[in-house]
Amino acid sequence: MTRRLRTGVLISGRGSNMSALIEAAGRPDFAAEIVLVLSDWPDAAGLVAARAAGVTAKAIDYRCFSAREAFETELHGQLAGAGIELVCLAGFMRILSPKLVERWSGRILNIHPSLLPELRGLHTHERALAEGRREHGCTVHFVSAELDAGPIVAQARVPVLPGDDADTLASRVLHEEHRIYPLALEAVARKLLAAERPAI
Ligand code: GAR
Repeated sequence: MTRRLRTGVLISGRGSNMSALIEAAGRPDFAAEIVLVLSDWPDAAGLVAARAAGVTAKAIDYRCFSAREAFETELHGQLAGAGIELVCLAGFMRILSPKLVERWSGRILNIHPSLLPELRGLHTHERALAEGRREHGCTVHFVSAELDAGPIVAQARVPVLPGDDADTLASRVLHEEHRIYPLALEAVARKLLAAERPAI
């Protein structure tokens, strides 16, 4: 059996990107396997979807922790305890501390609904429309201490069409998110696995 990278997915909500990753990783030749899903929010619909797909899914309710450090200690413990080697943020709406990012350096990916470095932060579809942009899209990038600023792995562009509102634009972008996140995960996982092999 070929070794595959043990991957965890962090979510906060619906988890459609998580589902796209789980589906892609269902292929036996995919370089990553999704072994754990964690949510900071117990009601996240994605937890139900993950379990239905046969993936262990747990909530770490951030409200139960007095401070971010305690929440992140639990998060790190769950990831490390499950032998996770790569983490995918998929609609995870909590900002990670520089300390946690450093601990997982080069091993956390995020998907962001804009063409980074444009439109970092929240409400990207509304802002793309308000600014009259003709083009919008999504980006998979490595997570760095600075928000939405780490090295870019993949991007997809979509047109902003006349008559678009935030919902129609978001769904056009989301379609591309589901396409590029599995491609980016596969590429990063392959690279990490290749780096393990001694040169001959
Ligand atoms: C996605 O559009 C993702 O790009 C965005 O949240 C949505 C989650 O949807 N992430 C961010 O805005 C992160 N800053 P999903 O739960 O259905 O994957």
